[in-house]
Amino acid sequence: MKRFFISLSLTIISLSQCLASDIALPKPQTNGGMPLMEALSKRQSTREFLNNRKLSDQQLSDLLWAACGYNREDKLTIPTAMNRQEVSVYVITPEGAWRYAAKENKLIQVTDKDIREYSAAQEFAKEALLNIAIVSDKELMSDDIYAGTDAGAVMQNIYLWCAANEVGTVTRGSFDKKGLAKALNLKSSQRVILVQTVGY
Ligand SMILES: Cc1cc2nc3c(=O)[nH]c(=O)nc-3n(C[C@H](O)[C@H](O)[C@H](O)COP(=O)(O)O)c2cc1C
Repeated sequence: MKRFFISLSLTIISLSQCLASDIALPKPQTNGGMPLMEALSKRQSTREFLNNRKLSDQQLSDLLWAACGYNREDKLTIPTAMNRQEVSVYVITPEGAWRYAAKENKLIQVTDKDIREYSAAQEFAKEALLNIAIVSDKELMSDDIYAGTDAGAVMQNIYLWCAANEVGTVTRGSFDKKGLAKALNLKSSQRVILVQTVGY
């Protein structure tokens, strides 16, 4: 009995530690901003980032909502083939990695390790303060072309948010695919399609 209570309290402690590292995001600001045609004129890739200036929590929330948040009860800012909604995004920072839970508007921690080395082949990205992994789940979408187009919609939303907010970004296909999937604790049906570096 005593052993049962010890193991129960250990479980409660580890669960509360786990919950403590999740992050509630501020409500995304979904109005205003730069006109679309101006943002399109500014969209570009950048490969130089400061490693001492982070996005604010409000900017991160707005960016993730733009990337693939809910803009209606059950539908997203991106289109997905057959509305499978198979895409999810993961935030990678020096402090760990989190899955964006769009409905709850929060970040669920998947690791507290610095896994940036897996998210990049290029040095600037390994040192960047924010990388966003765009992940697709084969269980929900087995067609590779549709998986790629849906991930591409997330990519372009990130590009446009960055252009509109004068934040730099580059999407990247070059990263350690197996290593990153493992570091993010993905299911075997999930794969990372792109990783996008974002920052000043
Ligand atoms: C699917 C895809 C994969 C890419 N992979 C990389 C990459 O691994 N590293 C990189 O520096 N840029 C990468 N890019 C960015 C392109 O090099 C960039 O979009 C292109 O040079 C055009 O420049 P622009 O985005 O400024 O118009 C990738 C772009 C796409 C669409």
